[in-house]
Amino acid sequence: MKIAIDGPAGAGKSTVARRVAEQLGMLYIDTGAMYRALTYIALRASCPMTDEAALRALLDQMKLVLDVTADGQRVYVNEEDVTDPIRTPDVTGHVSTVAAHPAVREKMTELQREMARARSVVMDGRDIGTHVLPDAELKIFLTASIEERAERRLRELEQRGIAADRGQLMADIAERDRKDSERETAPLKQAEDAQLLDTTGLGIDRVVERIVALYEEQVGERA
Ligand code: CDP
Ligand code: CDP
Repeated sequence: MKIAIDGPAGAGKSTVARRVAEQLGMLYIDTGAMYRALTYIALRASCPMTDEAALRALLDQMKLVLDVTADGQRVYVNEEDVTDPIRTPDVTGHVSTVAAHPAVREKMTELQREMARARSVVMDGRDIGTHVLPDAELKIFLTASIEERAERRLRELEQRGIAADRGQLMADIAERDRKDSERETAPLKQAEDAQLLDTTGLGIDRVVERIVALYEEQVGERA
């Protein structure tokens, strides 16, 4: 059984996907963390974000491990724990450029399909329902108004003691969504057979309940 969760930045994909996976005893795979890990390594190596071949070479040399633990997910590159540095504004600001290169996406898709092979997974990203797992039994396109997505990010940053500007956050999110939606290879898009879930004004518990209910309906129909 595969569940694909896609949607724009800040829609709640990772939070919700992790909880759904936990409840259903499935493996959670955060594909955004993979693009972030490559971006972080590229920035550190001073690799130009426009150099597709060099980025692909870096990715080919990387041993990328996503480890889901009771307290969340940890991300390792060649045994180094990069969980925190892949979330910095610098990485966030460059990741969509890195993720637009076809040679990068080709390899990431291969790795993601391999991780999901012969396993029940909940995978979140931008192109999971449309491209990575087109045969997923349940596809969710998670969204929320841009104002609410920015507000959620603002609260998250405040909890970590980081001050941010609401207007700037909104502009950054909108710009990343634009880049992700307008790229030629596997853009951010709702799959034709995905269910749209607008979570504006909806708390995390309600969203998780709704997806678990959709999953149970799906399993019931298949039985
Ligand atoms: O910040 P947020 O959690 O919304 O993003 P993320 O899921 O960590 O993804 C970071 C970036 O990786 C996205 O903005 C996309 O550019 C890229 N990405 C992608 O292209 N395809 C995926 N399946 C997942 C992420
Ligand atoms: O992965 P994505 O960028 O789609 O979003 P996320 O990182 O899972 O969620 C962004 C923030 O929104 C987190 O702080 C979540 O706790 C919060 N959130 C929320 O307040 N209400 C929801 N229904 C979903 C997420």
